[in-house]
Amino acid sequence: MKIVAVSGSLRAKSFNTRVARLMAEQAPKGVELQIQTLHGIPLYDGDLEEKEGIPAAVESLRGAIKAADGLVLVTPEYNAGMPGVLKNALDWLTRPGEEMKPTFGGRKTALAGATPGAWGTSLAQSGALINLRQLGVHLYPGYLRVSKVHENLDGAGAEEKLKEQIRKWLAGFTDFIGQSE
Ligand code: FNR
Repeated sequence: MKIVAVSGSLRAKSFNTRVARLMAEQAPKGVELQIQTLHGIPLYDGDLEEKEGIPAAVESLRGAIKAADGLVLVTPEYNAGMPGVLKNALDWLTRPGEEMKPTFGGRKTALAGATPGAWGTSLAQSGALINLRQLGVHLYPGYLRVSKVHENLDGAGAEEKLKEQIRKWLAGFTDFIGQSE
């Protein structure tokens, strides 16, 4: 089984990318979890699309999503929503319009996110629901919400607990992917 986890942060030291790395490390046997970032994706501009077509970084991400059995969006929370770079990538991925269905339609998708704050990106994840509904994904009803992430990546006991949280969540998501419909 293949899962692709897209980090919604471009930051080299991103907590969300670090959580995605822990997911890859903690993936159950037989599950290959690949991490994708949004580097190289320009701001969506209809003129750019008309002149140059879909950027290579978008097509490469699309290819990874289509080749996967499951998609995880690991989203930071900015002002109670998903970051613009992640929304921008989702917008590109639905272009041209006929690509929306093969990229997202019925795709087993989960939301995850990490924040130094107290609420585990719950507002960003809730806000993302309206976009994911539009995209037509098959959403996993369990959310991975990591609060106080800076305290939990301590390389010691707190990190062990976080790994356990991730393992349990991944077990649920992989079961969901394995179910026929
Ligand atoms: C934030 N941050 C933040 N955190 C949160 O829990 N709720 C929020 O609404 C916001 N809003 C917000 C807006 C902007 C513009 C920035 C830059 C940051 C803090 C955010 O969670 C923190 O910077 C994380 O470290 C971002 O994720 P990465 O880059 O570490 O993955």
